[in-house]
Order: sequence, then C-alpha cells, then structure tokens
Amino acid sequence: MIKIAPSLLAADFTALGKDIKEMEVAGADWLHIDVMDGIFVPNISIGIPVVKAIRGITDLTLDVHLMITKPIRYVDAFLDAGADILVFHLEADEPQNIQAAIDQVKARGKRVGLSLKPKTPANTLIPYIEQLDLVLVMTVEPGFGGQAFMADQLDKIRAIRALIAAKNPTCELEVDGGIDPKTAPLVIEAGAWVLVAGNAIFKETDRKAVIDALRG
Ligand code: DX5
Ligand code: ZN
Repeated sequence: MIKIAPSLLAADFTALGKDIKEMEVAGADWLHIDVMDGIFVPNISIGIPVVKAIRGITDLTLDVHLMITKPIRYVDAFLDAGADILVFHLEADEPQNIQAAIDQVKARGKRVGLSLKPKTPANTLIPYIEQLDLVLVMTVEPGFGGQAFMADQLDKIRAIRALIAAKNPTCELEVDGGIDPKTAPLVIEAGAWVLVAGNAIFKETDRKAVIDALRG
C-alpha cells in the first residue's frame, strides 16, 4: 500500500492546525515536515517549536526532513519535540558523524532515514542501508516547494529499490519533490512506496481527491 505524506511546507502557516486536521480526515498516512537552516539549503523554514506544536495536535506519524548541516547537533531536540521518523542528509556531515546521528536516533527507539540530493548516487547508501528505516530520494534540489520533478532520478529510485530488496526489505523508500498525480505513477513504478507532496495537495480545494489520485 502506497503511503502519502503531505508536506506542510505548502500548507497555510496561518491555519496550520486546520490544514493538519484536514489531512487526517483526507486519509494522509504521515505528515512531512521540512526543516531548513539557510546553510545546507538556501532557504529557512520552520524548526523545533513548530514540530512540538504539531505533535500536540495530531497522532499522525511525523516524518521530519532535516535539511540542515551537521544534523547530529539536533537529533535529541527534534526527537524530544515529537518526531517519529528523523530524516537527515547523507551530504550534511562527515561519514562518522552521519553514523553517530543514526546511532543516536536508534538509541532513542525512533525511526531513522537518510536522504540523498539529486546528484548523490545510490551507492553512497551502501555503508548505511542495513541500519535504516527509510531512504528519502529527492526528486528536486532541496530547499523549495513547487519545483519541477526530475525524471532523471527514476533510475536511482530503481537502483535503491534493488538495494533495499537485497539488504533491508522492510526499509521504506520515500520520494520528495514535484510529486503530483502525473509523476506519482512514475515513481511508484520505479519502486517508491512513500510519496511526499506539497503543492499538489495544498493548492487544490478537494485535497482528499488528490491524495486518492496520488495513491493510484
Ligand atoms: C523541498 C522539500 C519538499 C517540498 C516538496 O526541499 O523537501 O518536501 O515541500 O514540495 P512539492 O511537493 O511542492 O514539490
Ligand atoms: Zn521534504
């Protein structure tokens, strides 16, 4: 069953609670929360207090996507705030610190994911794949919602699906960026099982219909 994770980056920040309740009713599986630091990516979005506030109003799984440099500094803070799945970028620190961040999330009994920017090849996951609960493939350059889907990531999704099948079959494979009812079938065919979507959901008035269409 395909899971849908609406990206709150495209929600109405003046009415976040209302949009989150609407996602619950519309059948969203997870909520995707994009955290940006203005260094790892050129944009700044939301942080720890907002994750905590969201945790206070929903039982949906919070899938927190850290687009920040040296994520190990903030693992405990985001888990304390209520993240269920903490995802950070493989490119965001040296390998030993990425490994330490993975260990720290697992020591807290939470799920951990690694994300890859479009230019980062699938084989960079090899040292980590057996330890992960999730791999997040970016299908746009991280930093902004509303960008065009990069079809050149489909082969990488296929390669990572094969790696997961061989090494860690319960690991989730999530895609993020430019996912809409036209691109969703392409990533599903390539092996993605969790689809993040921001603008495709929140720009429409019938959001349940979009979520159903994305699931296929
Ligand atoms: C981009 C974020 C995405 C973004 C997706 O850096 O990681 O989660 O919100 O937005 P859409 O679905 O509009 O491309
Ligand atoms: Zn994201």
